Amino acid sequence: MHSMDSFSILALESSCDETAVAILRQDGDKTEILSENIYSQIPDHAEFGGVVPELAARAHVQHFPSLIEATLQEASTTPDKLSAIACTTGPGLIGGLLVGSMLARTMAMRWQLPFYGIHHLEGHLLSPRLGTEKPEFPYLVLLASGGHTLMILAKGLGDYQILGRSRDDALGEAFDKSAIIMGLTYPGGPILERLAQDGDPTRFALPSPLVGARDKSDRLSCDFSFSGLKTAVSRLWRQLPPMTETEKQQARCDMAASLHSAVGNVLQNRLNNALRQFRALYPEYSDKIPVVFVGGVAANQILRQSLEVLCIRENAALSTVPMRLCTDNATMIAWAAIERIKAGLAPIAEHHQAQPRWSLEW
Ligand code: KG4
Ligand code: ZN
Repeated sequence: MHSMDSFSILALESSCDETAVAILRQDGDKTEILSENIYSQIPDHAEFGGVVPELAARAHVQHFPSLIEATLQEASTTPDKLSAIACTTGPGLIGGLLVGSMLARTMAMRWQLPFYGIHHLEGHLLSPRLGTEKPEFPYLVLLASGGHTLMILAKGLGDYQILGRSRDDALGEAFDKSAIIMGLTYPGGPILERLAQDGDPTRFALPSPLVGARDKSDRLSCDFSFSGLKTAVSRLWRQLPPMTETEKQQARCDMAASLHSAVGNVLQNRLNNALRQFRALYPEYSDKIPVVFVGGVAANQILRQSLEVLCIRENAALSTVPMRLCTDNATMIAWAAIERIKAGLAPIAEHHQAQPRWSLEW
């Protein structure tokens, strides 16, 4: 399909524990989300303290058909009015990726539509461009989810350079594991954010890993490390004396606040290093450097605020997305396909197959 003025696209997302479907319509420069639906499997996995891949794959099989039907209905559209089908084909859990991509490719074949296989992280990093204050290339991306923590330079559509990544746990994972240590449920990120509001961030001294660390080229590193932070939470938590339930709840709030403070420092520090690298690469750049914060953890208002403070100080412009678009969704997958269609790009055959491991620097 060539770039055209007006078209609709149906997208599926099933790379982790959300079964999601969305239909977007592009009319010239105007994008409209006709309908978006998510079946969140969070309750199905909560008792296991994390996502169980086999359960997730089966739940995607179970929920996709009715979700697709409902999404078509809410969009007041029918398959013959669609122009393309998109689906996350990686990276992620292989079972869910297979379910989504087989279903999406079958629909594309049945309705004779082009199929766009989308990289999940490209979906996240392009999502702020769906808004009105659209970041233009080149821009910096801080992507933090349950599976990834990356600092990326987005040079253009499909042209991404990884400046730094987590050497161990992802940030969302560190939040989730810390929550479990304190006897809270999965996913821990949003719970810890709530508790942190009533906590004392100075009560527990947590480390800010890799501050000042250098990379192979002797630049200040944009890498992350969060497993030490989780271990420190565990150690400090176990050292607490016997407590009443009220004292324990206060300790949770204080630990959550201390954790946010340490993580806020790390994110500010690493973004500052990325801004230096950006300035070195684009010495002529005089505008505010665009920065986007995406992925499930970007739903966190306390961390957004820390990054906002740094961006104001360093002449950068932070964009985020509405909370519902931070965590996994199909709208961002449809949008990534729209960007490709608008740029006149054909589907990439190598992106059709489910790929559980897939580098963003393809
Ligand atoms: O992007 P996402 O929905 O799924 C993955 O691709 O991993 O991210 C889920 C992660 C979980 O680790 C969850 O705890 C975290 O994002 N998360 C948060 C918040 N909301 C979700 N972490 C911190 N604060 C939040 N408000
Ligand atoms: Zn994600």
